[in-house]
Amino acid sequence: MKEIDWSSLSFGYMPTDYNVRINYRNGEWGVLEVSSSDTLNIHMAATCLHYGQEAFEGLKAFRGKDGKIRIFRIEENAKRLQSSSEGIMMAKLPIDRFVEAVKKVVELNERFVPPYGSGASLYIRPLLIGTSAQVGVKPAAEYMLVIFVTPVGPYFKSGFKPSPYAILRHFDRVAPLGTGRIKVGGNYAASLQAGDEAHRLGYSAVLYLDAKEKKYLDECGPANFFAIRGNSYITPKSDSILPSITNDSLTILAEDMGMTVERRPIEVSELATFEEAGACGTAAVISPIERIDDLDEKKSYVFSKDGEAGPICTKLYNKLQGIQYGDEPDTHGWNTIV
Ligand code: PLP
Ligand code: COI
Repeated sequence: MKEIDWSSLSFGYMPTDYNVRINYRNGEWGVLEVSSSDTLNIHMAATCLHYGQEAFEGLKAFRGKDGKIRIFRIEENAKRLQSSSEGIMMAKLPIDRFVEAVKKVVELNERFVPPYGSGASLYIRPLLIGTSAQVGVKPAAEYMLVIFVTPVGPYFKSGFKPSPYAILRHFDRVAPLGTGRIKVGGNYAASLQAGDEAHRLGYSAVLYLDAKEKKYLDECGPANFFAIRGNSYITPKSDSILPSITNDSLTILAEDMGMTVERRPIEVSELATFEEAGACGTAAVISPIERIDDLDEKKSYVFSKDGEAGPICTKLYNKLQGIQYGDEPDTHGWNTIV
C-alpha cells in the first residue's frame, strides 16, 4: 500500500480493501456479503435512480493511544437509518444487522483506521437503496445495504479554526413537513446550489432558516447549529432538521459540565445575543463559527474576532474527541470497541 499521509487527509474518498452488503429480497434480509469491488451492478429502472429511494448514514471509527478501535454510537445511526427508511418506504434493516455490518467492515479495513495523534479517523458510510425496477411511482420490492469506509481528515478546510457562514433566503433545503428529519440523498441534491453560492462568496456553508417563515434558524448545510450564551447551550428545535447524533452528544456533555440545554425555536435576531456559535456533525465534529452574514438583511453576527474558537466550544470539542479517541472515560457507553 502506498504510504498514506494521515495528517494531511481531507474529507474525500480513498479506496479501501472491502465493503459489505446485505440484500433484501422476498421480504427478508439476506446474509452479509463481503465485496472488494467498489461498483454496484443495478437495474436501470431501480427506484433509487428514478424516485430517490435512497438513504445514507455517516459515522466514524477512531484509533486510540491504546491501539484499540472505537466506533462512536453505532446504534443511533442504526435507528436513524430505520427512521429514514420509514420516511421513504424502504425495508427497515434491524439494528443488530446494522451493528454487525458496521463492525465487520471496520475489522476488514483495520489498516485504514488512521493512527492515534494524526487527527484523522475512519469515516463509515452506510447506504440503503431501492434496487428493483418500477416505472410507476411506488416503493421497490428489493433493497441493498452497502457500507464502505474511507479514512478522512476535517470536513471543513478550516478544521477547528472558526470560519464564516451565510444566510441566503433564496434557497430552501427542505420543506416544512418534508424530508429534513431524515437522511435522504434528495436533501443534499437540493442543497448543492446554495452550498455552491456560499462557497463562491467565501463561506464554509449556508445557515438555513425555516422554509415556512424564514424567521427561525434551522441548520448549517451538513451539520446542526448550536450557540452558547452564558451557561446555556442553545440549539434549534425544528421539524425540518436532521436529529444530529453529535448534537445530542454535545447536549449531554454540556449538561455533564453543569450547563443548561435549551432546545427551542431560535429567531434569527437572537444571533446578536450569542457569545459563541458552532456547526456540529459527524463529519464536521465541531466547526466553530467565526461570523454569520445575513446577506439579505445586510447584517453580520460576529462570534470570533481573534481567529480562535471560544472557550466553551473548545471545551466541548476536547471532551467529545477525548471520548471518541479513548483519552477520556466513556461514561455514557457511546463507544463500541472492535
Ligand atoms: N444535519 C445534516 C443535514 C447532516 O447531513 C448531518 C450529518 O450527518 C448532521 C446534521 C449531523 O448529524 P450527525 O451528528 O448525526 O452526523
Ligand atoms: C456526516 O456528518 O456524516 C454527513 O453525512 C455530512 C455530510 C458528509 C453529508
